[in-house]
Formats: sequence, C-alpha cells, structure tokens
Amino acid sequence: GAPAYLEVEQSYIIIKPDGVQRGLVGEIISRFEKKGFLLKGLKLFQCPKDLAQEHYKDLKDRPFFPKLIDYITSGPVVYMAWEGDGVVASARKLIGATNPLQAEPGTIRGDLAVQTGRNGVHGSDSPDNGKREIALWFKDGKLCQWESVQTPWLI
Ligand code: PPS
Repeated sequence: GAPAYLEVEQSYIIIKPDGVQRGLVGEIISRFEKKGFLLKGLKLFQCPKDLAQEHYKDLKDRPFFPKLIDYITSGPVVYMAWEGDGVVASARKLIGATNPLQAEPGTIRGDLAVQTGRNGVHGSDSPDNGKREIALWFKDGKLCQWESVQTPWLI
C-alpha cells in the first residue's frame, strides 16, 4: 500500500435510479466490498438537475446529455466514495463497458444491465475526477475516517 503520508486513491460511484428501483443496491455494493475496497461514504439521495448538470458537465455538448440528466434525476440514487490503491481503474473494470451489451460477463453491467441509457452504475474515470466528484456530492467534505480490520490483508 501507499505510505501513510500519500493520499489514498478514491473513486466516486453512483448506483443509478434503475439500479435502486430494480433492487440491485446490495448486489452492486457487494461487488466492491468483495473486491476489497473500503467504503468511506454513502447516501441515498434524489439528485437535483443542477447537481446532475455539474457532475456531467464535460458531456454537456453530447446529443444524449438531456436524456442522461433526466435519467439520473428520475429517482433516488445511492452515491458512494470507495478507497484503495488503484480503485478508480479497478472500479471501472468491475463496472464494465458503457454499453451493457458489450460489457463482459462478470462485470456489473455485463451481468445486470442491457441499455446504455440504463446502465445501472457510474464510476469516476480518473483519480482527479474521483476527487472532484466526491467534493461535489459530499458537500460537507466529511467522509468516514474508519479503517476496516480487513484492510491490512486487502489493500
Ligand atoms: S464517451 O462517448 O466516451 O464520452 O462515453 P462514456 O465516457 O463511455 O460515457 C460518458 C457518460 O455518458 C453516458 N452515456 C449515455 N447516457 C445515455 N445515453 C447514451 N447514448 C449514452 N452514451 C454515454 C455513460 O453511461 C457515461 O455516464 P456514467 O454515468 O459515467 O456511466
């Protein structure tokens, strides 16, 4: 693991409204827990439009942007901060390709989703975006400062 004076990497993960409505919250959280990452923050929350637009601001000129905003604000989401060495890239692998029909079996989207516009989960695409997204959604900046007893074996 990283020396204590270095920041440990964090990824920002959303279980999107379809994942919540289909009862997949436990299943999806379980994938990250079993992999061995550390859960540092979690909330069930209905995202307002302005926050959704800020979160996805890099995509604002894409044709699917309005649909993406409608989708992510359509019902409660579960948002989380997960921590561990290499968590950003690893979470993207666990999640699988954007289009669930192209996502490999064994990935969250490969196992549980069909449509790109209903792909169940979001994961940060870089450590910098992980920081940006966690700061944006966890407004008071407070993540839980705990260490799992398993941590020394897992991360
Ligand atoms: S791209 O084209 O490389 O920018 O796409 P990608 O990085 O894979 O996707 C960026 C986010 O946009 C979502 N997306 C879509 N939503 C609705 N409809 C369509 N057609 C669509 N295409 C891409 C995609 O799921 C990504 O959102 P998150 O929440 O990060 O998964």
